[in-house]
Amino acid sequence: MKFFQRVYCRSVQMVFRCALPFLPYSEPKVIDHVSELPRILHERGISRILLVTDRRIREYGITRVLETELAACQIFYAVYDGTLTNPTTQNVEDARKLYCDTDCQAMIAVGGGSSIDCAKAVGARIARPKKSLQAMKGILKVRKKIPLLIAIPTTAGTGSETTLAAVITDAKTRHKYPINDFALIPRYTVLDPEVTRTLPPDITATTGLDALTHAVEAFIGHSTTRQTRKKAIQAVKLIFENIQEAYRDGNNMQARKNMLKAAYLAGAAFSKSYVGYVHAVAHSLGGRYNTPHGLANAVLLPVFLEAYGETVYQKLWRLAVELGIVERRTSYAQGAGAFIEELVRLETNLKIPKTLKEICPEDIPQLAQYASQEANPLYPVPKLYDAEELAMFYEAVMEKRIYAAG
Ligand SMILES: [Fe+2]
Repeated sequence: MKFFQRVYCRSVQMVFRCALPFLPYSEPKVIDHVSELPRILHERGISRILLVTDRRIREYGITRVLETELAACQIFYAVYDGTLTNPTTQNVEDARKLYCDTDCQAMIAVGGGSSIDCAKAVGARIARPKKSLQAMKGILKVRKKIPLLIAIPTTAGTGSETTLAAVITDAKTRHKYPINDFALIPRYTVLDPEVTRTLPPDITATTGLDALTHAVEAFIGHSTTRQTRKKAIQAVKLIFENIQEAYRDGNNMQARKNMLKAAYLAGAAFSKSYVGYVHAVAHSLGGRYNTPHGLANAVLLPVFLEAYGETVYQKLWRLAVELGIVERRTSYAQGAGAFIEELVRLETNLKIPKTLKEICPEDIPQLAQYASQEANPLYPVPKLYDAEELAMFYEAVMEKRIYAAG
């Protein structure tokens, strides 16, 4: 990245870092079970709800307990279950229409990050009916209270249940972009491991590695606080200690519970300390090819950590020490190397590939442009890259195709 662009990025990040203590961050109130929700809704005088979810979640019966509880307490609910893996602007508009047509007063999002992000964006459109989603892209463009939002994460990964971000894909251009605003932080979140019981092993792995990426990117960035560092470390430890067990035995509710806690902590950490280029590149791949977000992150994370080199040695050493894989007297460089090795070993055990076969070389300049637009100047990454430099990371994880001569 050119010198003046670097100065500009670091200055913007400095402004946000200085403003951090004054920003109105809030954390959702954590609830252990859906059976507590009707009481909360009654207390708030809410009798009409929009349930935002996806078809698979509903078919698996994951919403059944909630729906039974709502019906028993005479709370009307409409269901929008059309959310796609990468929720689109069309999903948001369809759900918003249902919310308005059925006179709903609040939303419960049940699902992975997709459903929760979709509900946040619906909230933004309800709060700002005259503003398009595209116009709310970026930071602090909503600036108005959204209807009550309760998040029930069914994967332990995105951390969307605690963050101020909603990532939406333009249905026409396939451009995937975040909307960040304090107004989007859910008011309540239900961390109930039962709803993650039927999550298949591959999704347990990729969503868990998404949470790990949140924690690591928040930790190695330049905008951390004592609190976010502590949360990130706790999340990294919980994930390394539990993800393989949750992957191997989905019925292990303790491992599931710890993974939910880790995802929540990692979400709280990156809410204040941001993510980094791994996420920016992963978002561009999700938007263009529907690459599952956690999978893209998992493939990219070790590649970026290697590339950051000595800028992250000390921080990765700290994580390695916390995980107990090196002793304190180990050098920073060796500690960082050990952490990356441990990460690669973990990903191999979880059957994560080293490359992504969907990447087409001709798409890379545009994708790298999108990633650069998302990350620069906002993300306080350890090392700055412009679009041209980011293109190399797509090439690094692209499946190399060998064509026969002639
Ligand atoms: Fe993520």
